Amino acid sequence: MQDRSCSLGRFATKPRHARGDGPAIILSAGASSMKLLSGNANRSLAMAIADYLDCPLTKSQVKTFADGEIFVTIDENVRGEDVFLIQSTSSPANDRVMELLICMDALVRASARRITAVLPYFGYARQDRKTGGRTPISAKLVANLISTAGADRVLTLDLHAGQIQGFFDIPTDNLYAAPVIEQDVRKHYGEGKTIMIISPDVGGVVRARAIADRLNADLAIVDKRRPNPGEAEVMNIIGSVAGRACILVDDIVDSGGTLVKAADAIMAQGATSVTAYVTHGVLSNGAVKRIEGSALKELVITDSIEAGDAIRASKNVRTLSVARLMGEAIRRIANEESVSKLFE
Ligand code: R5P
Repeated sequence: MQDRSCSLGRFATKPRHARGDGPAIILSAGASSMKLLSGNANRSLAMAIADYLDCPLTKSQVKTFADGEIFVTIDENVRGEDVFLIQSTSSPANDRVMELLICMDALVRASARRITAVLPYFGYARQDRKTGGRTPISAKLVANLISTAGADRVLTLDLHAGQIQGFFDIPTDNLYAAPVIEQDVRKHYGEGKTIMIISPDVGGVVRARAIADRLNADLAIVDKRRPNPGEAEVMNIIGSVAGRACILVDDIVDSGGTLVKAADAIMAQGATSVTAYVTHGVLSNGAVKRIEGSALKELVITDSIEAGDAIRASKNVRTLSVARLMGEAIRRIANEESVSKLFE
């Protein structure tokens, strides 16, 4: 059996069986190593991360039986390893979640020392509160499932709401795509007063402000309402967008309704152009067509979710990679180095 574990330098982590009871057992330098494993949700990103880390993906197979049940085999030894399991819980969300849980169960039973669930996109995040009587908080339920299945820690990207980190009772690193977005905005649209960063709703202001600050740009806010679930209505633009190249910044584009309505309203106020930068391109049910027929100059997403055919074929949708960012975070976690330094 080929051993594809990778040594990235110093490792000193507490083994999973010692978690929470007594002092950490420090392994001597070079005594252990890490493994990268990918589910089926986003193998392109997993391979790009593997490339960055110069660490091949561990051989594994995820099969689905005729009745829909998922079965996993890990075809390499993972005993005592620091394993990073990469799986976005994107569409089909329920299958991807089950695949993640079953992979973790296999890793626990194979005696992995530590398991980090790497979720470039954490699906179910939008169900983070009760929206009415007798409704669930599914984001919390999925967080519980991930911990129960055996995750020792979580690494994710642009959570829909920062507080979701608290749904996990295990260490959770929430990365930001901001550095990747900032670099691209600067390259294509400039910085400072020529551009205007816009949050498409009040909930996204913190995220948009972080990018505006990095680019020394002003911030405007769209006053969005949802009269019905999945339906967006723009009430007002707070801030003057006339004569500016406007950059909408959001965490998720799903139906595209929010962006399309916001772009119309922004152009109606005299903006010179509107471009959208969104971390997670969910883009369900004809969203790509909706974007193509809109006032948006282009939609820029990241590869946190594997692109489908419509995205790949679209001239209006461009993809930035978060592989280096996620790979570097994995390297730092494996080496017990600071992750927050990545954003300073
Ligand atoms: C909402 O709070 C999110 O940040 C996004 O704005 C929303 O999920 C986008 O959904 P859609 O593209 O369907 O309007």
